[in-house]
Amino acid sequence: MTVTLFRNARIYTPVDKGKPAAGAAQGELAVYEDGALAVEDGRIRAVGDLSSIVHSISGKTMDEVDCRDMCLIPGFVDPHTHICFARLREEEFELRIAGSPYLEILEKGGGILSSVQHIRESDEADLFVATAERVRIALSFGTTTLEIKSGYGLDTQNELKMLRVIDRVARELPIDVVPTFLGAHAVPPEYKGRSDDFVDLVIDEMLPAVTAQGVARFCDVFCEKGVFTLDQSRRILEAAKAFGLGVKLHADEVNDLGGAGLAADLAAVSADHLLAAGDENIARMAKAGVVASLLPATAYSLRKPYARALDMIAAGVPVALATDCNPGSSYTESMPFVIGLSVLNMGLSPAQALTGVTLNAAYAVGMGAQVGSLDVGKQADFLLMGGRSPAILAYHAGVSPVQEVYKRGKRVA
Ligand code: NIG
Ligand code: FE
Repeated sequence: MTVTLFRNARIYTPVDKGKPAAGAAQGELAVYEDGALAVEDGRIRAVGDLSSIVHSISGKTMDEVDCRDMCLIPGFVDPHTHICFARLREEEFELRIAGSPYLEILEKGGGILSSVQHIRESDEADLFVATAERVRIALSFGTTTLEIKSGYGLDTQNELKMLRVIDRVARELPIDVVPTFLGAHAVPPEYKGRSDDFVDLVIDEMLPAVTAQGVARFCDVFCEKGVFTLDQSRRILEAAKAFGLGVKLHADEVNDLGGAGLAADLAAVSADHLLAAGDENIARMAKAGVVASLLPATAYSLRKPYARALDMIAAGVPVALATDCNPGSSYTESMPFVIGLSVLNMGLSPAQALTGVTLNAAYAVGMGAQVGSLDVGKQADFLLMGGRSPAILAYHAGVSPVQEVYKRGKRVA
């Protein structure tokens, strides 16, 4: 098997110690100034300064790629997206910038519920084309693994339809996709005022159908005032675990309902948003090893205070970062934008941010063993970009310094 050697790069990567990087480890990267990455059969065979890896590749047939003047970093993992949607919601954006609160729009039947109507009206093939187009944008900005949620169907048939589209994206595009079932994203109009009955539907009808279909790996719930209560969220996620799905949740995005504490109780893989999460529950997350998936582009777009990333890191919670790409609260596919916001508005160092979009994000979607760092044996998913260091991702604002994207050793964007 031929080895491809990417050489003369400045390599920056978190180092995987078998778990997400918490506390001080979040800010620690391996740096190789005369870096070389050897790829064999789509996997990383060796990584380090050139002199330190020559022995492990000697005697191999070799192709070489000169990466002079470039940085080489792991491909981004986007651990939280709603990128499968049928139409934009530009009118709603204009309402929001004129002052209408996000949850008020939802309460009046707009917001998530307008996307539900769009999905129910959409043709499966068209939905695939629209979703794939956005996923290709994400790929060109450096995302090589992404989570995609259902949650705009809100009935069994349309949730299954979304998951089929997500699965087709996984099969047809050069990107790893982690599908998540989010049947409890909102209470659909036909269940208005009967949220407990809708929760029964999610548990008794949707979960069995979704697991029989076999696409979804995780189950998520929007635990929020006026959406699903803490008790309803617990019921759904406990049922999902019994069906063998991993669990995660939208927790404390607008109001502190204790979602972060529930994530700790259930040993969820991640709790996401956390703009309003309190200290006690953050401490419980640290103890349970739950990753905090923070979504700064959502805080930006909703014009809310950012999640307290540095406090979470100080409390020992591993922090991941995601786009939350969706047509309402955060319409962006760009991980470089998310990194910029996290560095300049949340105070993360570029190293902490890089760990947040790679290693910790991989653990937040159960992919830590396969992707998220340049450790030997992992998939050769990596990016070449300009600049001297990962700081360029925050420094060069509003554009992407990512020049080449490699998935399993092959250039895909
Ligand atoms: O993560 N908070 C709930 N869900 C999404 C928004 C989805 C939408 O507005 O369409 C979020 O912000
Ligand atoms: Fe979300």
